[in-house]
Amino acid sequence: MSDDRPSPPNRLFDLSGQVALVTGASRGLGWAMAQSLAAAGALVVLNGRDESTLAPRRDRLREWGFTAEIAAFDVTDAKACCAAVAEIAARHGRLDILLSNAGSTVRKPLLEQTDDDWSRVIDADLTAGWRLARESARVMIQAGHGRILLVSSINGFVARPGITAYVAAKTGLHGLVRALAVELAPHGVTVNALAPGYFPTEGNSALRRSDPDFAPRIAARTPAARWGDPQELGAAAVYLASRASGYTTGGVLLVDGGLTAAI
Ligand SMILES: NC(=O)c1ccc[n+]([C@@H]2O[C@H](COP(=O)([O-])OP(=O)(O)OC[C@H]3O[C@@H](n4cnc5c(N)ncnc54)[C@H](OP(=O)(O)O)[C@@H]3O)[C@@H](O)[C@H]2O)c1
Repeated sequence: MSDDRPSPPNRLFDLSGQVALVTGASRGLGWAMAQSLAAAGALVVLNGRDESTLAPRRDRLREWGFTAEIAAFDVTDAKACCAAVAEIAARHGRLDILLSNAGSTVRKPLLEQTDDDWSRVIDADLTAGWRLARESARVMIQAGHGRILLVSSINGFVARPGITAYVAAKTGLHGLVRALAVELAPHGVTVNALAPGYFPTEGNSALRRSDPDFAPRIAARTPAARWGDPQELGAAAVYLASRASGYTTGGVLLVDGGLTAAI
């Protein structure tokens, strides 16, 4: 217990001078979390597969007075992931925060799921997080500091029919977080998962369109009685990316309005 004057929250959560890579930042939750990290002071490197979608996002952050760059690559492309992290480290001499958020799913009954469906989801939602964490850790270990955040889902705890590989991948991320956390803690690198509940994004727009009762049904089952606002996930990301979370590692932060806690 230190007798030093406590830091005010604005300093504890300040990310000024830090570099963050956010995958899947062209829209949805990744874009919301990238805005929050940028607003907290980080230079944010926005990832997605399409440079022309990312460029307006970067420009928007700059108009707001924040610092941002883009790195377009597919997170399932191993070589591209390694090259992107190496390039960020070479350009800035650091990579403080990895926010591995890009993900996708295949919705089909089990008997229609193909080997390719399984592999595509596992590659994007599980393997990419492991690979980017490994590459980022190379840089972070040298600096003696780092924050790795992997975006999982409440489906890492509870399942719905028709998304077998997604449930397996997100559950796998929770094991991955523990494995990475125990290995990287001695190097000053923390590793945690953010597990969102339901947030309206393009990722679930097809589901909401095909079943108009889906959104109200989820809201009715959620103790907070509503879907989440992506900015609410951004605030949680800033906490896990900041100095404030230095002793928090190997955990999963649920941001779900109480949905997983309810019966
Ligand atoms: N929304 C929710 O309610 C919810 C709930 C729980 C968990 N999650 C998780 O949160 C994350 C974001 O979800 P979201 O709802 O924001 O999804 P979304 O609206 O579909 O956005 C997905 C983002 O990931 C990028 N992306 C997809 N595949 C990629 C790849 N192979 N390489 C690089 N970028 C890729 C997309 O960019 P491009 O298409 O431009 O490449 C886009 O920026 C996912 O991991 C998802 O599983 C979401």
